[in-house]
Amino acid sequence: MHDQFNRKIDYLRLAVTRRCNLNCTYCGNKNRLSVSGELGAFEIQQLVRAFVKCGVKRLRLTGGEPLLRTDLTEIIERAAAVGGLKEISLTTNGTLLTQELAFTLKEAGLARVNISIDSLKPLRYKEITGGGNLDEALAGVEAALVSRLTPLHINAVLLRGVNDDEADDFILYARKNPVTVRFIELMPFSQEQNCLAPVPNSQILERHPYLTPVKPFTRSQPSVDYSATNWKGKVGFISPMSDKFCDSCNRIRVLFDGRLKTCLGDEGTVDLKPLLDDEAALTDAIKKAVHFKPPSHNFEPECGLGYTLQEIGG
Ligand code: 5AD
Repeated sequence: MHDQFNRKIDYLRLAVTRRCNLNCTYCGNKNRLSVSGELGAFEIQQLVRAFVKCGVKRLRLTGGEPLLRTDLTEIIERAAAVGGLKEISLTTNGTLLTQELAFTLKEAGLARVNISIDSLKPLRYKEITGGGNLDEALAGVEAALVSRLTPLHINAVLLRGVNDDEADDFILYARKNPVTVRFIELMPFSQEQNCLAPVPNSQILERHPYLTPVKPFTRSQPSVDYSATNWKGKVGFISPMSDKFCDSCNRIRVLFDGRLKTCLGDEGTVDLKPLLDDEAALTDAIKKAVHFKPPSHNFEPECGLGYTLQEIGG
């Protein structure tokens, strides 16, 4: 399906929960949210079927922390059973990703995972995440690699004065491990984040002139990826603040409770939950909302939309 600006929309990010076992300072900071309002596995399948009918080809399950859903395997199986998806992927903090679970999810139809890790220093990781254990997240990376939930991306958000001295450590990690470390510029969702000016990705890249661009992994991916000779992995740069990529945006989101959000940086949502049993009405509502997808996000360093990525789905 296309929007009014002729952008092809074929990528859905669906939040299966807004609960999280971590409590990252910049991402929500509300780890006591309840399950209430979450869609069931069957409802998610109804949604996926409608989105596939509308032309969605890739699905990413997000949260909150999606591994908190005890029925995640069923959700993946049901999404895969719809047919027509080229890929099902998952964004997680990795701390709950045991080897056994990774195998099970792969078997259910999951292709790959992105794991969020904002520091490679145990104490700092604990501070940023409000008590998280870095070893558990790294064990999650290992489990994903062993289960071939690959290509594996590690998301890192650099925060000024907090972890921006770790860019080179992350780059070293990508040199030594078969993963893509992707630096995501901080987007100002809430007032508290306004004091945290994003670290421009160009500043990191400038310090590593030997890095050479590599072919994008998917069409319309926001990340620009680089590698170098004798590297096992890659580094990627996602620059929503310093280099808007809205012109090639192909994505839409569904929140944990079934509301459709066509732009991360726009407050509007369309509630799809009341339409789940009427597929014609559902596909109609999806197409209509997608038609009016905003031309670009309106994050500005001083603004603050008053909601966080934990609530929207990462
Ligand atoms: N800006 C940029 N990235 C963010 N994330 C969470 N909040 C923000 C923000 N304000 C990241 C998480 C995770 C990914 C899903 O989104 O760190 O890696």
